[in-house]
Amino acid sequence: MNIGGTLIAGPAAQPLTGSLTVPGDKSMSHRAVMLASLARGETCIRGFLPGEDCLATAQMFVDMGVTIDWLNADKTALRVHGCGLHGLRAPAAVLDAGNSGTCVRLMTGVLAGQSFAATMTGDASLRKRPMRRVVDPVRRMGATVSGRDDGNLLPITIQGGQLKAIDFASPVASAQVKSCVLLAGLYADGTTTVREPRPTRDHTERMLPLFGQPVVVAEDGCIALTPTGELTAPAGDVVIPADPSSAAFFAIAASILPGSSLCLPAIGINPRRDGWRRILMAMGADLLVQQGQAIGEEPVADVTVRHRRLHGVHVSSDDVPDAIDEFPILFVAAALADGEFVLRGAEELRVKESDRIATMAEALRALGVCLQERPDGVVIQGQRRLRGHAVVDAHGDHRIAMAMAVAAQMADGEVEIRNAAAINTSFPGFVELAQACGMNVRWAEQGS
Ligand code: S3P
Repeated sequence: MNIGGTLIAGPAAQPLTGSLTVPGDKSMSHRAVMLASLARGETCIRGFLPGEDCLATAQMFVDMGVTIDWLNADKTALRVHGCGLHGLRAPAAVLDAGNSGTCVRLMTGVLAGQSFAATMTGDASLRKRPMRRVVDPVRRMGATVSGRDDGNLLPITIQGGQLKAIDFASPVASAQVKSCVLLAGLYADGTTTVREPRPTRDHTERMLPLFGQPVVVAEDGCIALTPTGELTAPAGDVVIPADPSSAAFFAIAASILPGSSLCLPAIGINPRRDGWRRILMAMGADLLVQQGQAIGEEPVADVTVRHRRLHGVHVSSDDVPDAIDEFPILFVAAALADGEFVLRGAEELRVKESDRIATMAEALRALGVCLQERPDGVVIQGQRRLRGHAVVDAHGDHRIAMAMAVAAQMADGEVEIRNAAAINTSFPGFVELAQACGMNVRWAEQGS
């Protein structure tokens, strides 16, 4: 786990202003490097997120023989020399997914189709997270998987094989599970279908056709992939829009800090990622969305956020998948809104990089927030200011660390956020960008 790294945050000395370009989308960066590696030909990817999670995925392919040229020093542009669906080589060592659930779960689908065995592990957080959700379907397709707790816990070893297509009804609303099955489906004869209890982010379905593999989504949401053979590198570059999950921290910071006005250009507004924006609008936020030209298959917009007092809302299970990664920062908005915020049907938050209901409850309580934890959510009573001069623990979870850095802006004294180094998994440069728009936050190691 990414233990260590202390942030010193808040209170804000000024409103947030200016224009902030957040880094590339994490989910799309993983998928782009995966599909490019499995394609025939060279793919240039631009706007890649050089966070530790996506770099772990790229490294896995390098470990299996793929050549990747980094085209700039900050690793946002790369050329992938794809080796074709069957061109990966057995890795010489254990593959390390680090902190990344997306990496390990999607790679389970890729490894299921290989003719060799490979072992994947991850950091202390990832080794506690459930893998059965992806192991079950790839076993049904014909792969052999072993590991602790019958393959539920990393490290797991996957012996691929000749796969058969399945009709898979996923018990959890999870894009990682859906994508795992579709990636394994590339190696199966016939049509693989996936049904989800609720629609989840659809970047895999949008990106596969760019690599020559059509995906059919039926009226009832059933997703079908009939592989046509090899993936082919797209003629043009694959360009990745700015990550809406990263933008959400700044959008909510500007909403809660009096006097703020912040522009977030060209952020992804895919409806399956846009739940945080809809919830924030329902809370009364002042958001101006100016839709721009789509980037590849993904819609984008410039979003301008101005401060406005928010009010609590009720969020139900139907609204959870589209905002699944944004609840830590939405809880901060709720803590500073008028009235009560209620979230239900979000038990998945308990198996993220940390138990995000418990870690956020603990951190917000340390700042004086009154809330009740529920097994599947939380009830938060909003207030005007938060208590400062406090120490909170991000538990090595990047989104808890960033959410609490935003919360601290509205505290009446400094907040020390411990175990925050994991910010680099999804948002390298967060602290510098936050400082640039006026937030009061620094690494303790930077000094005062
Ligand atoms: C992701 C899907 C989500 C999300 C994660 C990224 C993806 O997980 O929480 O950060 O890229 O597919 P689940 O699909 O398991 O909910």
